[in-house]
Amino acid sequence: MKFSTLIMASLVEAAAVTRQSAAPAPGSDGKYTISAPGIKAQFIPYGATLTNLYVKDKNGNDVDVVLGYDDIEWYPKDPGHPVYNAIPGRYANRIGNGQYQIDGVTYKTEKNDGDNTLHSGTNNWSFRFWNVTAASQDSITFSIVDQSNSSQGFPGRVESSVTYSVTNSTWKIKITATSPEQKSPILLTQHTYFNLDAYKNPATPLIWDHTLHLPYSKRYLEADQGALPTGKILTAEPGSINDFASKPDLLLGHSRADPAFAGNCGANGACEGYNGYWLIDDAPKDAVVLTLASAFSGVKAELKTDQPGVVLYSCNWMDGSASLKSTQGLTKDQKVVRSSCIAIEAQEYPDGINHPEWNRLDKQIFGPGQTYSQETSWTFGLL
Ligand SMILES: *[C@@H]1O[C@H](CO)[C@@H](O)[C@H](O)[C@H]1NC(C)=O
Ligand SMILES: *[C@@H]1O[C@H](CO)[C@@H](O)[C@H](O)[C@H]1NC(C)=O
Ligand SMILES: *[C@@H]1O[C@H](CO)[C@@H](O)[C@H](O)[C@H]1NC(C)=O
Ligand SMILES: *[C@@H]1O[C@H](CO)[C@@H](O)[C@H](O)[C@H]1NC(C)=O
Repeated sequence: MKFSTLIMASLVEAAAVTRQSAAPAPGSDGKYTISAPGIKAQFIPYGATLTNLYVKDKNGNDVDVVLGYDDIEWYPKDPGHPVYNAIPGRYANRIGNGQYQIDGVTYKTEKNDGDNTLHSGTNNWSFRFWNVTAASQDSITFSIVDQSNSSQGFPGRVESSVTYSVTNSTWKIKITATSPEQKSPILLTQHTYFNLDAYKNPATPLIWDHTLHLPYSKRYLEADQGALPTGKILTAEPGSINDFASKPDLLLGHSRADPAFAGNCGANGACEGYNGYWLIDDAPKDAVVLTLASAFSGVKAELKTDQPGVVLYSCNWMDGSASLKSTQGLTKDQKVVRSSCIAIEAQEYPDGINHPEWNRLDKQIFGPGQTYSQETSWTFGLL
């Protein structure tokens, strides 16, 4: 009796251990950790957020290359809420004039960004606690059920999952979503903020010394002063402010001396640098479509995606109030200052639901039987 109880107990224990190694629990800091050779990533359910991403720098040391907070309780409280490495949804970025049409019916969405809707308005997905629906040593899946009208003007339930996995210095992102009740706009992205130096470059905390190359992206969307696409598609001349296609080693700050740089992202001249959308044209399957790199850390980050473009935002609105993580910075009280990071978001054309001339409607509106899907990856290496 005693003996079999003992066997039972150790069997139960063995099962628990197996279960644990198949499905890691969060650590005492609340973060879920996945890892593979050359890479370690940590996540929290709030916003399906990546909190830390460790890769190797040129000295072989771990460098945490994304923005975030040590204290996971701060993410929901942070009044700035920069959508740090979260999944905004169900329709990321802007909806012009807070409205769109499907099959002749006009839907009015919440105007929370001037005259426009940003990240779907109230109850947007980056403000929600997602469910962890699968996890292993090198992969984690978050899921969300977004009920009809949980945000104004988005009827029909939408169900979505994002699976993050790591393998050999690569972080993979796979997002799917369905709208089983009725047609709905769906546009998703991983809103990742980088500083490849982890704010440890004594010369500058600013992002302008990073290089950026988008070999297939000569074209970009013209935007108005509120960062809303006007509909026009422009081509960047080599060497002009919005050119990141003509050479592999263009600095993000290559046009800082150009008087137009200070207002290049709108706000009537108050937004310096970048907050726009670059189209990816005619990239071969599996091509690297974007490379971000920094000579200081020696880290290079290569993007592959099945999406037709990327949003680039060079952190103009960071006002120096946000703290850095303990893994970043040179001093304990260093802050996230203006233009010290870049958000890179692979996604569909912003506000494509209001621009039928771009022919994106069937990639941005999903109904019963259809599935939104995105596959994107970042591979880290050295310059
Ligand atoms: C997102 O939703 C939260 C919670 O409802 C709200 O406080 C916030 O203003 C919304 N953000 C945006 C950009 O609409
Ligand atoms: C998580 O799952 C629970 C139970 O199924 C559900 O009630 C809740 O709405 C889910 N949360 C999200 C964000 O979808
Ligand atoms: C969603 O809101 C619209 C507009 O207020 C309303 O017509 C529709 O019935 C609502 N749908 C659901 C399922 O609540
Ligand atoms: C890992 O990546 C490196 C560099 O790209 C490559 O040389 C190596 O073969 C890869 N290893 C595996 C197991 O895929």
